[in-house]
Formats: sequence, structure tokens, C-alpha cells
Amino acid sequence: MLPNEVTYAEIAALIDGSKDAPPIIGLADGNQPITVDLDDDSPHVLAASGAGRGKTVLLRTVLSQALAAGGHGVIFDPKIISHPWAEDLAKCEYHRSVETIHDRLLVLREEAARRAGVAGHIDVGPRIWVLIEELGPLVNRLIRYWREIKAPGEPDASPAVEALCKLLGTGAEQRRVQVGAGPIAPIKMHVVASTQRSSAALGMGGLAGWENFGTRCLADYPPHVWRLLRRDVSPLPSRSRHRGRWQVVATDDTVTETQVGFFSPREARTLAECGWSRLALPAPGRCAQVLTWFRERFGRARAGRGGAVSRRLTGGGSR
Ligand SMILES: Nc1ncnc2c1ncn2[C@@H]1O[C@H](COP(=O)(O)OP(=O)(O)O)[C@@H](O)[C@H]1O
Ligand SMILES: [Mg+2]
Repeated sequence: MLPNEVTYAEIAALIDGSKDAPPIIGLADGNQPITVDLDDDSPHVLAASGAGRGKTVLLRTVLSQALAAGGHGVIFDPKIISHPWAEDLAKCEYHRSVETIHDRLLVLREEAARRAGVAGHIDVGPRIWVLIEELGPLVNRLIRYWREIKAPGEPDASPAVEALCKLLGTGAEQRRVQVGAGPIAPIKMHVVASTQRSSAALGMGGLAGWENFGTRCLADYPPHVWRLLRRDVSPLPSRSRHRGRWQVVATDDTVTETQVGFFSPREARTLAECGWSRLALPAPGRCAQVLTWFRERFGRARAGRGGAVSRRLTGGGSR
């Protein structure tokens, strides 16, 4: 049996607080945690569904945990208001305009190349998590923007879209770098993207296929999308209208029905700022600042949802 809803407190109880733990997407049958596969050759996450099915919630659940585990976030939100919880966070950039998203993608491409060059020799740096809201439309906007700004003689293809393709990467450079006969060294860069069903069916504007995402999450999916993804390997599972219910498809083609964790914006922000572990909690003043920040912007948090965090911060939680 799957839980009807998975709360912040339930996921918090499963996290050991260690640095670099993989983010938990949600819980499957028997409360089994389903995590992002950080070690896959394509260590990226795609959430595909129609509007209102929980893509933004899923992205928030994953990114807030990634930041708590020491990652650096880069949010591309052309929809502008999708992730207010992550605004002005020290370890997370927030980009809304196509101009800055274009520029940041070029910087990320440089960073990927730098990491590929040094991986296996020195620490490449913190994991970088690139969160993209509505991948398909963003790609189209980047293409149009490049047409407007490109100088005569410059190539027609958008360098920002190429950079994104490189990040999602099909080549060894972006996946992992084999250094001689030594261990395989990851470059620790991850894309966590959402897309509408239609763009998923179209291969995300020709950008990249499903195979670029080691962890693929689907809420409602028409049969043709399922066939595209599963290549008729398995029958279409019955589609649930239950809020937060997703099918998570791993690279090895295993499909796990999962109830995605729901973190309120305040829970996500507090987690990103303060981390999981009590030991790692900064001075109480820091978390008090987070709560003040929320009150200023959003007034009182919804009763119930914020309770778990408040208890943790005041030392009254179960952990
Ligand atoms: N995992 C979940 N658990 C509980 N409620 C959820 C979950 N995911 C989404 N919801 C509810 O559905 C609403 C819409 O989710 P949202 O992420 O904004 O959808 P989308 O981005 O696909 O349009 C949320 O505000 C929330 O109330
Ligand atoms: Mg959304």
C-alpha cells in the first residue's frame, strides 16, 4: 500500500543527515524511499505531467534536499514565480529572464568542461543542481533569443541550447571521466527539469530524449508517451488521479509507483538554509531569520504543514 501523502517529517525521519545523501523523491510500497540516482551515467531527473499534477512540488522536494546536502542550486524559472522559497538563498542562484538563462548556461558549460578536466585529480567542488521549469518552452525561447542577438556569421544553433545538451550530455565528458585505469570520477552536475506531456512526447523540442534522464517521473501519461519511454517493454500502469502519485522509471527500466514527498515552501526553505542534521544547524538566530523572511513575504504559514519544521527548530521534534 502506498501512503496517501508523504510529509516533510516523514522524509526527515529517513535521512541520516550525512553530507551528499541522494535526495528522496518520495515513498513507494512499504514506505520504501525512492531516491535520485546520483551515480547513474545520466544522473538527471525529469518530471513530466500535465498542469497541476505536481511537477513544481517534485522539483522543490528534490532541490531543497540537494541544497541541504551541500549542493549549489541554479534555478531557471521563465515562469518567474515557481520557486519563491529559493529566493535570495546564499547557495542558490535564481534566473528568470531568457538573457540571464542564456548567459548562465554558457558559464555552466565552461564549468562542466573544467570539472571534466580535473575530475579524478582534485575535488571538482560542490554538486551543482540545475533546476529547469518547463524545459520545452524554455528551449524554444532560447532558440528565438539567439536568432535575435546573433551577429552575422555566427552559427545558427543556439549556444545556450548546445550547452544544455552538453550538460545533459551523451558523451563521456559529461557523464563520467575515466582517468587512466583509475576510478571513474563523476563531475557532479545534475539537471532536474519539468516538462509538459506534449513536449515530452515531442522529445522536448528536439533537445534530448528520455535516455538523458536516469530518473524519469511521470504523472498522467497518454499511451503514446508511455510507449516512447518504455518501448513496449511493459504495459501501461493504471493511471492514478491521486495527488502526488507518480511512476518513477529508472535507467534499468524498473518502474516504481511513488507518492512524492510534499514540502511546504517554508519547509523547503528552512531545510535548504539549515540542513537536516541538528548538529549541522546553525545558531538559532539563523533559522529565526528564515522564519521572519517567510512571515514578511507570505504572512502566516499554513497551520499543520509548518509544524514539523518548527518543532525541529525548537528541539521538540522526534529526531
Ligand atoms: N506530492 C504531492 N503531495 C501532495 N500534494 C501535492 C503533491 N504534488 C502536488 N500537490 C498539490 O498539487 C498542487 C499543484 O502542484 P504543482 O507542483 O504546482 O503542479 P504543476 O507544477 O505540475 O503544475 C500543489 O499546490 C499541491 O497542492
Ligand atoms: Mg509548475
